[in-house]
Amino acid sequence: MLKNNKKIIITEIAKNNTSSLKERGLSPVDVINKARIVADDEFYTRYEDIEKEITLYPKRIWKNKVVFCNCDSAADKDGKRNSAFALYFLRNFEELKLKKLICTHYSSKVDSFNADTNGYIFTKDGFSKIEDDYEPLKKYSDVYDGSFDHPISLKILNEEADIVCTNPPFSKCIDYWNILIGSGKKFLIISNIINVVTTAYISYFKDSKVWAGYNGVDWFESPTKQLISAAGHWYTNLPIKNRPKYKRLKIMALNDIPEKYKKFDDARTLLADNGFIPNDYDKPFAVSPRPILNGLLEKGYKIVQNYSYRSTIKGNKKFSRILVQKI
Ligand SMILES: C[S@@+](CC[C@H](N)C(=O)[O-])C[C@H]1O[C@@H](n2cnc3c(N)ncnc32)[C@H](O)[C@@H]1O
Repeated sequence: MLKNNKKIIITEIAKNNTSSLKERGLSPVDVINKARIVADDEFYTRYEDIEKEITLYPKRIWKNKVVFCNCDSAADKDGKRNSAFALYFLRNFEELKLKKLICTHYSSKVDSFNADTNGYIFTKDGFSKIEDDYEPLKKYSDVYDGSFDHPISLKILNEEADIVCTNPPFSKCIDYWNILIGSGKKFLIISNIINVVTTAYISYFKDSKVWAGYNGVDWFESPTKQLISAAGHWYTNLPIKNRPKYKRLKIMALNDIPEKYKKFDDARTLLADNGFIPNDYDKPFAVSPRPILNGLLEKGYKIVQNYSYRSTIKGNKKFSRILVQKI
């Protein structure tokens, strides 16, 4: 059980799901000014999207595990949480039987959330700030800025974390994926759907080091609590059981695919659209991210090249796709 005083503080943090700007000590103008500078990275994940995804995995995967949210502020200066990932794991700490939750948060010159520390560590006995408690920190002379690629964050990732769970900054996504996947740790993260057709990431999908989670994430929150739409998706290396989105794949003979959803580009490569997938076509063909996110690679198809496929039709460039082939 948590010690009483610490339990109260954690409960206080956890119940503030929707902390207001006033509670954060910010005016809308402050936030807009800050948001302008940090622009695209400040898309915050909604609690309901985290809950919707995590509850689809068996609870036993979390038992006695150290969860690392490495782009997430657990509490601002007033003791109010601001990352829904931190909130979700705090609320469900005992239910999931977690061993430890470590939340680290980057503070560059812009810190939209007024956090006063770059990391919190939660255990069943209570919590502490990373500076006060985390022994390896003392070995480093430089200030800990909470960046996911800071030596201390890397040490936590490589030596302590069991499962990493977050929505990392879009602007540093390639570095983030390289570090995370290179660590060999289990993860459940949100990134853009176009990663699937982007050269920097394709080899990870091709080599089965990452695959789609269950859900897309279409809505995020801005620092001013406005809803922002963006094409996000969960990505993971945790097992996926009976993926419901398989039913969106329309796998059939090429002849049966409606004409408007099968085109040949200038290189005579077949472009299969709208979820239609030929099951009697031996050559590579190009698809958009959706079939991959819907589980195509689990249905007897493989990615055939490590880079994005950019086709042209009558000289006009089409959007990026990925080349796949029936195994
Ligand atoms: C897309 S937002 C998501 C925030 C939070 N994980 C969530 O899901 O609500 C990415 C966050 O990462 C922060 N960030 C930027 N650079 C970072 C870095 N080097 N290390 C850790 N976090 C960083 C951004 O300031 C931003 O708050």
